[in-house]
Amino acid sequence: MKILAIESSCDETSCAVVENGSRVLSNVTASQIEEHKLYGGVVPEIASRRHCECIVSVCELALERAKTTLPEIDAVAVSYSPGLIGALLVGVNFAKGIALACGKPLIPVHHIRGHIASNYLDCSETNNQAGSPSQPLNPPFLALVVSGGHTTITHVKSYTEFEVIGTTLDDAAGEAFDKAARAMGLPYPGGLHIDILAQNGDYNKYKLPFPKTENKHDFSFSGLKTAVINLLHNSKQSGQFEKLDIPSVAASFQHTVCEILVKKTMSAAAESGMRTIALSGGVAANSYLRNILEQNCRLSGYRLFVPSLEYCGDNAAMIGAQAYHEFLAGNTADSTLNAYAARSIAF
Ligand code: KG4
Ligand code: ZN
Repeated sequence: MKILAIESSCDETSCAVVENGSRVLSNVTASQIEEHKLYGGVVPEIASRRHCECIVSVCELALERAKTTLPEIDAVAVSYSPGLIGALLVGVNFAKGIALACGKPLIPVHHIRGHIASNYLDCSETNNQAGSPSQPLNPPFLALVVSGGHTTITHVKSYTEFEVIGTTLDDAAGEAFDKAARAMGLPYPGGLHIDILAQNGDYNKYKLPFPKTENKHDFSFSGLKTAVINLLHNSKQSGQFEKLDIPSVAASFQHTVCEILVKKTMSAAAESGMRTIALSGGVAANSYLRNILEQNCRLSGYRLFVPSLEYCGDNAAMIGAQAYHEFLAGNTADSTLNAYAARSIAF
């Protein structure tokens, strides 16, 4: 089954053709980062306008690269929630138009379900400790999704049944990376820049708080982010900024965020008895996080899946992967489909 998938929830316009939920025939993404960089973050109206301008050509290119045509597509899938509402609406209406004009089923896909499904794509990697290398990821498993807008530990009971075990009470991990990076004078989005800078730093140099949460599987990153911002701010005010070792600030921050993510995931896995973990979302591209999660999983004998770097950030291939399972479960929509800024993964 060939699915044409569309993703426009934030600042990437992406279209992909995915076969049977795992084989990527094409994945074309137009990023708006260069434009939003000027403002230090995503400007929603600009995002919607750019999606509007490029969605047709991105789709045409995805079809061309997949060596296919609209009549040969079996269904159209679209990311409909969560995200920036104006941005989502562009993708949703475009998908509706194609589905209606071509008489194809329309499949709405929750964006975070999509991130999790990036691990179903053929190119997802595993540490292969407790499983055969050729064995693809199947539910049930525990998913850690870390993106610019979300940080969740989810029990994936089946391809379409989810239970959230822990979530962020304030900033998402990626958001904390971006805000801390901004305070360090790094360009938007700062996660990758912290990752690179931290490679020359000492993560033990600056002690940062390890926040406590009432539900031990929840996350809270705003105190940690503020501690970094205060460290930078105070050193500037006292004329000591030059003495601050910025790569070590980056390393200490990254180490603390990643330790929190990994510790909570490992404890949720131990409690749930789940022995397979799947990492996903933009922050899943972080080299330090990938490393320490892999080490922990290896030590515990857990199977770990991580998407290849191309499929960590927002992309339509992951939407096509999840759409296949939504379709098999009968989750299609008619032309009244709407977009929603926030909707639970378990909806
Ligand atoms: O999944 P994504 O593309 O968009 C959302 O759905 O939010 O995630 C974007 C986030 C940004 O906050 C970006 O800074 C972060 O992923 N990110 C990273 C790295 N690459 C991207 N964070 C840490 N280390 C990285 N290497
Ligand atoms: Zn995302």
